[in-house]
Amino acid sequence: MRDPSINRLLTEAAASPHIRNLHKLWSDNPERHRQFTLETQSLYLDLSKNWIDRDVISLLHQLADSCRLQQAITKLFNGEVVNSTEQSAAGHTTLRDPNHRNYQNNLKAMFSLTDRITDGDIKTAFGKPVKQWVNIGIGGSYLGPRLVVEALTELQSESRIPVYFAASVDDSLINQLFQTIDIEHCLFCISSKSFGTVETLMNARAIEQKLKTLPGYEPQPGQSSLMAITANTEKARQIGISDDMILAFDDSIGGRFSLWSAIGFPIVMAAGKQAFTDLLAGAHQMDQHYRQTPVDKNLPAMMALLAIWYRNYMELSAYGCLPYDARLRCLPQWLQQLMMESTGKMHNNSGGVIDYPTSPWVFGDHGQLSQHAFFQAFHQGLDALPLDFIGVIDGSPNQQFLLYNMLAQGAALMKGQKEDNSMAGCPGNKPSTTLLMKRMDAKAMGELLAMYEHMIYTQSVIWDINCFDQPGVELGKTLARDIQDYVSNDSLNQLDLDPSTLSLINQVNPTTKESNHD
Ligand code: F6P
Repeated sequence: MRDPSINRLLTEAAASPHIRNLHKLWSDNPERHRQFTLETQSLYLDLSKNWIDRDVISLLHQLADSCRLQQAITKLFNGEVVNSTEQSAAGHTTLRDPNHRNYQNNLKAMFSLTDRITDGDIKTAFGKPVKQWVNIGIGGSYLGPRLVVEALTELQSESRIPVYFAASVDDSLINQLFQTIDIEHCLFCISSKSFGTVETLMNARAIEQKLKTLPGYEPQPGQSSLMAITANTEKARQIGISDDMILAFDDSIGGRFSLWSAIGFPIVMAAGKQAFTDLLAGAHQMDQHYRQTPVDKNLPAMMALLAIWYRNYMELSAYGCLPYDARLRCLPQWLQQLMMESTGKMHNNSGGVIDYPTSPWVFGDHGQLSQHAFFQAFHQGLDALPLDFIGVIDGSPNQQFLLYNMLAQGAALMKGQKEDNSMAGCPGNKPSTTLLMKRMDAKAMGELLAMYEHMIYTQSVIWDINCFDQPGVELGKTLARDIQDYVSNDSLNQLDLDPSTLSLINQVNPTTKESNHD
């Protein structure tokens, strides 16, 4: 965004009516489907249904060059400072590089614990072998592992242990979990990079309290129902978790980039060691692609430039993620955190306030379910927005039908339909991107997720922002703690809050409700 002349040219290009006219773009260049498709070992990306032409692409490449994208990629992989707030490197790619010591150390620790669990060396505090596993964690300590566990658990593995997730503080969910699991055979894992996330610690405490009430619960060396995965091992020790039940990872691994670290342990439990190794291999393949491929054939770079084109020049503020495969149903939520928490920023790397919008509002769901819920607005609403349709080539007749549905949506959005004197007319000319996974396996998942990670990093380079911090989420957390404290001390009126929130607190809290009749 730093070169005013490129900015101006892109702004002018976005204002030209022909660039928003897919019919015209195709009649000018019927070869778009050949020119705007990109490929890696596991992915096939078709950008041809977007509001772009070769001139725009060339300007976007100039934009990337002017922001020194290639140098920024080198910095990321060389372990230089890319997290300007914390003055640190971002270590996630080292975890999938087989030549890096972090890769070896990480797998060694994870797999040796896996073996101890599956060989029955570790017993739960009830003296029973571990047959189930519960992940207590939220945000990056939940979304990535959950997505991959759901995507890969169809794969059979020698060590498959069913995995459950407890993310939000919610009595009904915890009670439901207790009804579902076999507590005596269950290993509960507190997954938290900081080991300071209130929700996670509250859930962990609730679960521990429950365990303590059960007959036969006797934690002792070699017998534990609790373990921890964290970058803050000291805090885990403080709550009584022994060293051999803690998997550590490095502070330089950002929470939402952490599924490759010990945070991915549920993936090993559910899908096995080989699947996790393949996942890392797929991600490493994408790392190599990102480092070595020129921008015009570089999937993450092109995805990022396209998103920036829509966000900053076309001024579209939403972004849809629509996987047409139940195994990818958590992808939209994972991408939502990755994109919005990483790039929803107002300060540049030097601390100045920026004057251009960054992260769009990311939303989405399983594509076919969405078709019957919110696609109406895509087809006949007046807005357009960038959409990623994501499908898995699978071969089975039902999956094939799903894919045809997906392709039909992209075509219908672009083509529309004329209906004289009818309410059924659709204007068409709605852009979309189609991303095909050539198969569903751990390698392809690794490629897909690393592609989105690098897309986000590329955006942050162009926007000159730090994608590895999240200072904005702290305010709400602090306020929640304050409200809890002030309510418990019966001194809510001392809290500097607006009348609406104060009155709502009175509504939801029975004690203040009785004492304050406002
Ligand atoms: O509140 C946001 C956040 O800090 C995320 O960045 C992170 O993924 C999540 O909370 C959970 O954090 P932790 O792993 O430290 O419990």
